[in-house]
Amino acid sequence: MQPQRHLLITGGAGFIGSHVVRRMVLRYPHYRITNLDKLTYAGNLENLRDVEDKPNYQFIRGDIADPVFVMNLFVTHRFDGVIHLAAESHVDRSILEPDDFVATNVLGTVNLLNAARVVWERDTRCRFHHVSTDEVFGSLGDTGFFNEQTPYDPRSPYAASKASSDFFVRAYGHTYGLPYVITNCSNNYGPNQFPEKLIPLAINNVRHLKPVPIYGRGQNVRDWLYVEDHAEAIDLVFHKAPNAATYTIGGSNALRNIEVVRKLCAIMDEKLQRPPGTSEQLITFVADRPGHDYRYAIDSTKIRTELGWVPRTSFEEGLRKTIDWYLNNTDWLDHVTSGEYLHYFERMYANR
Ligand code: NAD
Ligand code: DAU
Repeated sequence: MQPQRHLLITGGAGFIGSHVVRRMVLRYPHYRITNLDKLTYAGNLENLRDVEDKPNYQFIRGDIADPVFVMNLFVTHRFDGVIHLAAESHVDRSILEPDDFVATNVLGTVNLLNAARVVWERDTRCRFHHVSTDEVFGSLGDTGFFNEQTPYDPRSPYAASKASSDFFVRAYGHTYGLPYVITNCSNNYGPNQFPEKLIPLAINNVRHLKPVPIYGRGQNVRDWLYVEDHAEAIDLVFHKAPNAATYTIGGSNALRNIEVVRKLCAIMDEKLQRPPGTSEQLITFVADRPGHDYRYAIDSTKIRTELGWVPRTSFEEGLRKTIDWYLNNTDWLDHVTSGEYLHYFERMYANR
C-alpha cells in the first residue's frame, strides 16, 4: 500500500513550480497535490493544461501574504507536506520595487510556517521544503564555488528577501521543531520561464529581430540548471533528505552571459534558417544592473553523494530543447508579452 499524502505546492503556476507540479502529479498518483498560486504576472495556468484534469490535482488561487487565508487553508486541508516555490523571483524588479518581495518572500513564507507549525504540531512525518536560491551567498570572484557551508551575503533586495525567508525556515525548525529542508539552486532555464529572464528574453527578442540587451560587458557568470533536472532534485530532497538538511544544487554549467547569448543566437539562426551571424548582430550592451553580482557557481557534491542526484542535461541539449519549446509555443509567448510587459522594461531602464 503506497502512502497517501496531501502536498501543498506554492507557486505552481510559475516557471519552476509548474515543472514540480507536473512531476509530482504524474509520478505520485496516490498523492493529492494542491497548487496554491496568486497568479501574478509570472503565474500562468496554461503551464499546467496537460495535468489540470488529473484526479489527484487541484488549483487554488490565493495570496500567501494573507495570514488568515493561509491559516484557514491549512486547517481545512491539513496538508502533510509543503513544497514552497511561490515568490517574487526577478532581481531587476526587486531593484525597482522591493516591497512586494518583502510581502511575498518574507511575510508570505512566515505565514506558511505559522500555519504548518500550528497544524503539524512537530509531527516529523510532515515536511516543509523551502526552495531558495544561490543568490543568498552573494558574489564569487574568478574562482571558487558556493556550497552548504558558504556564509550568507545577500546583495540585492531579492536576495535579501530570500535569505530572510531561509533564516525564518531554519529558526522555526530550531525553535519550534518544524520539520524542514532547504535547497539553494542556481539559475534555471527551460520551457515556461517568463521572458523577463535572460534566456527567454533573448529568444523572444531574436525571434522579433529586436535588440538583445546584455548588462555591462556580459562578463558575469551564472551556473545554468535545466529546470527538469531541478524538479528531479526537489523530488529527491523532499522524499529522501534527512530533517533540517540543506543542499546547494547547480547545473555545472558556469558560463559568461555573453557566451550564453552567443550560443543562443547561433542556434536561433539555425532554427529560423537565417544566415549565420544574423542574430548575434542584435546583441546590444546596455547599462549594468545596479549591484550586479559577478559570478555564481555551485558545488553540488553533497546532493550528488548523499542522494545520487546528477544534472542529466548538458547546456547545449537544454538550450536546444528550450529554444524548440519557445518556437513551438509562440502563442504562449505572445500572450505573456501582451499587456504590462513592455511598460515594465520602460520603467526598469528609466531607473538605470
Ligand atoms: P516565477 O516568478 O516564475 O513564479 C513564481 C510563482 O509564484 C508565480 O506563479 C506567481 O504567481 C506565484 N506567486 C507570487 N507571489 C505570490 C503570492 N503572494 N501568493 C501566491 N503565489 C504567488 O518563479 P520561478 O523562477 O519559478 O521561481 C520559483 C522559486 O524558485 C522562487 O522561490 C525562486 O526564488 C526560486 N528560485 C528560482 C530560480 C530561477 O532561476 N528561476 C533559481 C533559484 C531559486
Ligand atoms: O541564481 C539564481 C537566480 O537566478 C534566481 O534566484 C532568480 O530567481 C532568477 O531570476 C535568476 O537570477 P538572475 O538575476 O541571475 O537571472 P536573470 O535571467 O535576470 O539574469 C541572468 C544574467 O543575465 C545576470 O547576470 C543578468 C544578465 N542579464 C539579464 C537580463 C534580463 C542581461 O545581461 N540582460 C538582461 O536583459
